Amino acid sequence: MKKILITGGAGFIGSHVVRRFVKKYPEYKIFNLDALTYAGNLENLSDIKNEPNHRFVKGDITDQKFIEGLFNEYDFNGVVHLAAESHVDRSITNPMEFIMTNIVGTVNLLNAARNCWKENFEGKRFYHISTDEVYGSLGDEGFFTETTPYDPQSPYSASKASSDHLVRAYHNTYKLPVVLSNCSNNYGPNQFPEKLIPLIIHNIENNKPLPVYGKGLNIRDWLYVEDHAAAIDLIFHKGADGETYNIGGNNEWRNIDIVKKICSVMDQKLNRETGTSEKLITYVKDRAGHDMRYAINATKIKNELGWEPSLQFEEGIEKTVDWYLANKEWLQNVTSGDYQKYYEKMYRDR
Ligand code: NAD
Ligand code: TYD
Repeated sequence: MKKILITGGAGFIGSHVVRRFVKKYPEYKIFNLDALTYAGNLENLSDIKNEPNHRFVKGDITDQKFIEGLFNEYDFNGVVHLAAESHVDRSITNPMEFIMTNIVGTVNLLNAARNCWKENFEGKRFYHISTDEVYGSLGDEGFFTETTPYDPQSPYSASKASSDHLVRAYHNTYKLPVVLSNCSNNYGPNQFPEKLIPLIIHNIENNKPLPVYGKGLNIRDWLYVEDHAAAIDLIFHKGADGETYNIGGNNEWRNIDIVKKICSVMDQKLNRETGTSEKLITYVKDRAGHDMRYAINATKIKNELGWEPSLQFEEGIEKTVDWYLANKEWLQNVTSGDYQKYYEKMYRDR
């Protein structure tokens, strides 16, 4: 039996990865390690919580002793590392949490793997999940490839860039068997409503203003989360040692267009007159240092591993809206309490 440690498995992308691994690989034992910060939610995993090959472990990757102990106890065969602070706006308000979790936490995991595996790396793999934001910001043209120089612009992307460099340094220096991927913006079920798409869905439902930063002209390349989970599965099992793979949706949208698209889907789903939701659009103060455009060239993963996005955006956004409308209790639970305080603080001065 293979023992796989997945970190951040109670979060948005992590929960889809854990579900996929638990269901597809009954012969694996999946250890799902998560600190359950505001972004982690065991409700994301309610359908698989009793599966015999899934074990949830509450713990913090910044706790070096705890992480060492966990590796010594279970001697994992592989690590899929997703745990992170992931929201750019929060990184602008509080960078230190990003330094601690994204950098120090990653180094704790690298050290624990290295010490536990004791140079006997046969059959072992450390997979680090990262973001396209490490490459910085594009103008109107061009795409990020795996060889684009790093140029992170926010505390979030700088912390992720730093962790990527450290993972590669452990491969180069200690021969730790690693693989990395850098993915574009994800959307889909279970995303915390601080991120654009679920925030807009939530606000439309509640007839609240739809905050669009600046002029709404910034561009993101959106990928359905289950397609990211499929790519992660493929890279973990088939990716070449020491390599990096870019993952993207080939699906660029200006923010204002995506907000209008969600408005139109929501009007239909809520039986509201066409144009009702668009009236809620409110332009607000821009994000500090707001990256203009992200776009991925995903040729390498297509040519080498045969991965492509399976879902068109039309289908993906409908599925996403349907999920949020069918899971009002989930949304209610995650937006009660601290979320209100966060929202008021983040949007008060905009
Ligand atoms: P998320 O914020 O939804 O989830 C992060 C999870 O990590 C949460 O469950 C949280 O409880 C856990 N966590 C945070 N700090 C921790 C700590 N110190 N110890 C243990 N667990 C901790 O994030 P997400 O959107 O699912 O992103 C997952 C990973 O994918 C991140 O590494 C992120 O950088 C990367 N990524 C995200 C996107 C995206 O669009 N969301 C795109 C590309 C890459
Ligand atoms: P976000 O979902 O935070 O992802 P990221 O910053 O990692 O790309 O934001 C996506 C885009 O939407 C980004 O250009 C910022 C913008 N945005 C808004 O216009 N309004 C909002 O309320 C939020 C959260 C984001």
